[in-house]
Amino acid sequence: MTQDFVVSPSPRVSEAIETRRSVREFETTPIPEADLREIVSTATRAASGGNLQPWKLYVLAGDAREELVDRVAEKSKQTPFGDGPEYPIYPPDLSEPYHARRGQVALGMYEILGIERDDTAGRGAQMAKNFRFFGAPVGMILTIDRQMGPPQFADLGLFLGNIMLLAREKGLHTCPQEAWSLWGDTIREVLGVPDNELVFCGVAVGYARADAPINRLYTERAPLEEMADFRGF
Ligand SMILES: Cc1cc2nc3c(=O)[nH]c(=O)nc-3n(C[C@H](O)[C@H](O)[C@H](O)COP(=O)(O)O)c2cc1C
Repeated sequence: MTQDFVVSPSPRVSEAIETRRSVREFETTPIPEADLREIVSTATRAASGGNLQPWKLYVLAGDAREELVDRVAEKSKQTPFGDGPEYPIYPPDLSEPYHARRGQVALGMYEILGIERDDTAGRGAQMAKNFRFFGAPVGMILTIDRQMGPPQFADLGLFLGNIMLLAREKGLHTCPQEAWSLWGDTIREVLGVPDNELVFCGVAVGYARADAPINRLYTERAPLEEMADFRGF
């Protein structure tokens, strides 16, 4: 990391952005702790309003990861839908085009996996893989102090984005996981996270299984004309 003010181009960010995708099957190969520490520490260079740095991160490997995964697996036998959501993941009546976009990802995923539309068990099994961090050797839990509001949640996104892009630099892939926000109480209990911290999401981190069909999923983006309005050029 440099404290110098650099004005020349930094050429490799676009490559990390273009090669990042949500990966849902990982090799079990361990990740060097030093790499993870470097990623997280560089990611904290993210901008945040007022430099609040409103993020807290728990990085779990080995027994620590295992303990959380096992506890959630055990509990989900009684309460398959978790402890109750930490926050509404989507608005209750998602309007278009958002509703269709969401459906498209699910459809793409189930098509690749050969899961039929009405196969509730198949969909449930895929959902449950979230809670094993999709087999990744490292799972992160990202929390935020409950007093924070929308601007600080946006800051959290910048930090999370940095982690995912920096992971690419090390040959790693990630999957951000709001699914973990269904298990806030259990996470707080197992990890000893204070009550004032809301669980925003998990992040699976690892080396992607290159041959796994699910990792072929490539999500589309709306064309520029649909989401950006350039004026005065
Ligand atoms: C904050 C956040 C939470 C997400 N939560 C989940 C999740 O719980 N499970 C999952 O499989 N994917 C999750 N995703 C991945 C999205 O489905 C994915 O980013 C989107 O479909 C675009 O695909 P891409 O990441 O491959 O470009 C999440 C993404 C973000 C940014």
